[in-house]
Amino acid sequence: MNIKSNEIRQKFIEYFKEKDHAQIPSAPVVPENDPTVLFTTAGMHPLVPYLLGEKHPLWLRLVNYQKCVRTGDIEEVWDDSHLTFFEMLGNWSLWDFFKKESIKYSYELLTEKMWIDPKKLAVTVFAWDEDAPRDEESAIIWQEVGMPKDRISYMGKKDNWWGPAGQTWPCGPDTEIFYWVWSSEFPPAGSNVETDEDNWMEIWNNVFMEYIKNEDGSFKLASMQNVDTGMGLERVTAILNGKTTVYDTDIFTDIIEIIEKTLWVTYDEQTKRSIRIIADHTRTSVMMISDWVLPSNVDQGYVLRRLMRRAIREGYKLGHKGQFLAPIAEKIILKFEDIYESVKNNKAKIVEEIDREERQFLDTLEKWLKEFEKLLGGFQIAFERTGKKVETISWDKAFRLYDTYGFPLEMTVELAIEKGLSVDTEGFKKAFEDHQAKSRAWAEQKFKWWLADNSEMTTALHSATHLLLAGLRKVLWEHVHQAWSNITSERLRFDFTHPEKVTPEELQQVEAYVNEAIQAGCSVQLDNVAKKDAEQDPTIEASFWEKYPDIVKVYTFKDSAWNIFSRELCWGPHVESTSTMWKFKIKKEEASSRGVRRIKAVLIK
Ligand code: ALA
Repeated sequence: MNIKSNEIRQKFIEYFKEKDHAQIPSAPVVPENDPTVLFTTAGMHPLVPYLLGEKHPLWLRLVNYQKCVRTGDIEEVWDDSHLTFFEMLGNWSLWDFFKKESIKYSYELLTEKMWIDPKKLAVTVFAWDEDAPRDEESAIIWQEVGMPKDRISYMGKKDNWWGPAGQTWPCGPDTEIFYWVWSSEFPPAGSNVETDEDNWMEIWNNVFMEYIKNEDGSFKLASMQNVDTGMGLERVTAILNGKTTVYDTDIFTDIIEIIEKTLWVTYDEQTKRSIRIIADHTRTSVMMISDWVLPSNVDQGYVLRRLMRRAIREGYKLGHKGQFLAPIAEKIILKFEDIYESVKNNKAKIVEEIDREERQFLDTLEKWLKEFEKLLGGFQIAFERTGKKVETISWDKAFRLYDTYGFPLEMTVELAIEKGLSVDTEGFKKAFEDHQAKSRAWAEQKFKWWLADNSEMTTALHSATHLLLAGLRKVLWEHVHQAWSNITSERLRFDFTHPEKVTPEELQQVEAYVNEAIQAGCSVQLDNVAKKDAEQDPTIEASFWEKYPDIVKVYTFKDSAWNIFSRELCWGPHVESTSTMWKFKIKKEEASSRGVRRIKAVLIK
């Protein structure tokens, strides 16, 4: 059969609409009201309030397709069925129908509307444990719809209990539907998920949510009986098309083709792993950025950065030296823009962010790989001298890579595994914690020194730094951001991102901009703003969003006619009015590091 994923998505929605379900849109991949998880991992996630009893504005029966991110199985991504991004087709009953209808609907949709041969299906139901009884009811319903008794397995909590998605809240026993993927022939009589696990692939999960997990880990019966189901679009597309892997479906084949063309490689047994990782991780990156996750060193941004870096490194392993992700991202955008508004609305931004992160990382990667090679060279020398083979990278070596070159531990571990080595990660973690404690103490100490040295001149130079950055961004353009700033009571020293030397004319214009603001006697206004609002406001400059708390301080320099000279996120302090700042003079412009320039400047009478 040749049935496209778009058609399957549509069929699912249509079927449940016919069964009186209301369609709801996909929520963003970052959950809006649950700080206990980083990503939306299932369709039920945004529905938690309604599963707990709040009235849903639309209806008691809902259906949707939901973008989901799960990174727990990241190491398995290149196998046939694991993905970091996937689409979940789901339907819900909010204290309306329960097990009987739910199982009947699922079975009918699969066998009658999606033409799956019932002989290739098997199911599991919840066995029992101290928290909940055996789900005999579901097993009986399965037999009523036509499932042979020997295709039904009873399994424990590990397999047949779902949720909660976060640490607490709704959950319950589930019944899972599996498809026989082992061969085109029918499964032998008596084969089921328990006896023959590897040959059956899970495709749909129906959760009967009638329990609440408490914070202490105990379970209690809820006041409502809800149904929550989820089917992986990618997996069901594979089986409906007689494929054994999601990568051979229309969801991935054209992405793989673009990768082949861009990297000048052929998709075969040797390149399969790398190409699949690139395809999956780029797809996830596109979807994350479409929902405003940006690469950073914390939380969701860090997961995104890790995925992109893994993809880039696989390209590198395939022998490609330059950037390659943009055309792949563009293809993925094309596939999703009519399905998810977030993708349609952010097309340019997605490519721009991917391109920027890739550019920065490629430089770093070269450096890292060289350092890693040096480390291996050292092991070889040690081996030649002592005859003892090094098998583990010690924590101090891993820590040095981290501390001196910014190598994340995961990267060291990945490179080590490729060379058949292991890493003392426990030792690393301990060293890392000590290091964090020390740098915290150091930062506190520095803050004390800074307070002691907080003369009027330093404050004025700090305000001058804001005007300088605004001037640079006006004259040189908006790629300019702060890289580092150091102020003493004599001078300011400001490092900023810019690829080439700033010409004397440009420096003059920048200087003039700052002096104009000083002469205009700008007032300096402080506003406390929610970070998420500030982030959306293009007039506010900030260099390291991820560093800031949820409420941020924004300093605005404006003259009496409300002309704004600078708006920037900062801790302060600043002058109250620029009229006290004398005259601004740039003393020197020079290179600081690659792509970063440095200006030294003073305030003179
Ligand atoms: N919430 C259930 C799952 O993710 C349907 O499998």
